[in-house]
Amino acid sequence: MIDLNATVEDAKAAFTQAKTPAELENSKAQFLGKAGRITALMKDLAALPVDQKKSRGAEINLAKQAIEAALHARREALADAELQVQLQAEALDVTLPGRRRAAGGLHPVSLSTERIEAIFGSMGFEVAQGPEIESDWFNFTALNTPEDHPARSMHDTFYVEGGTAAAPNLLRTHTSPVQIRHAVQHVKKYRHLIDAGQTMPEIRVIVPGRCYRVDSDATHSPMFHQVEGLWVGQNISFKDLKVVYLDFIQAFFETRELDIRFRPSFFPFTEPSAEIDIMFGAGPLKGRWLEVSGSGQVHPNVIRNMGLDPELYIGFAFGSGIDRLTMLRYGVDDLRLFFDGDVRFLSQFR
Ligand code: PHE
Repeated sequence: MIDLNATVEDAKAAFTQAKTPAELENSKAQFLGKAGRITALMKDLAALPVDQKKSRGAEINLAKQAIEAALHARREALADAELQVQLQAEALDVTLPGRRRAAGGLHPVSLSTERIEAIFGSMGFEVAQGPEIESDWFNFTALNTPEDHPARSMHDTFYVEGGTAAAPNLLRTHTSPVQIRHAVQHVKKYRHLIDAGQTMPEIRVIVPGRCYRVDSDATHSPMFHQVEGLWVGQNISFKDLKVVYLDFIQAFFETRELDIRFRPSFFPFTEPSAEIDIMFGAGPLKGRWLEVSGSGQVHPNVIRNMGLDPELYIGFAFGSGIDRLTMLRYGVDDLRLFFDGDVRFLSQFR
């Protein structure tokens, strides 16, 4: 008669030999499968005398249970081993230093632009934009700038391809062309009111943006930033300009100890024209007049180019240097710092 203990020992040895779940299932078949050794023993039972059948059957069952227990134990051991391998492979070294992501921030000129938009927004000004490649018409002619005006000199701006020989395209030298562009759109929108002899809603807009001139030193760069302001209505005068600009500049610098003055000047597109100077009543710049803006009452020819009757409509405009305002606000003494892209400088504004 076959030794059941030996069969169980053989099974345990075979299971231990199995190094993978697949090998283990093969070994299982040899003992517990249809053609396996336990199944064969069961079949042999039939040939035994009745009095031995019962006890032999019980012994075979015990052996079968022992083999099944060994199988389960080995299965678990193999699964555990597999898990361990996976855990090892995917292990995180929590003592490694993390990869740092430097915090970014806005450029100081962008910070100023956002401030300017917010302050004028609170006064009911919308924000408009225009192209940086501009036509001769919008940059000069529509702004009442005669053809022999020095601003048209090749030395004062960058001409680019396009346009005509007599009126080439150029990089805009100021944000003033957007006065015309915006006003023409506005007037088009309200043409029906104007034609019906009614009052159109006022034009109240600021235009921040990049401008270009052939200029480069500690206080001038070939690309710089301006913000244009334009308010046109039926009853808008220089005194409105004064109160709006004073409110703006005091909000921008967060002080009431700041005065402004208008100094007579000339621009083809305003009449009368003035430079706006500001003076701080305290701080390192106390007591010095600093020029920050051109300004004036919109010239009748410009009002006409906007599509409006200068007998009915009047307004003011200004164009301020955003870079200059930013330098004053943060105490920056060299304009070129804004364009060097040096993070040691820029990170101070985060
Ligand atoms: N465009 C002028 C300049 O760049 C500034 C200005 C704007 C003057 C609007 C008057 C009115 O110098």
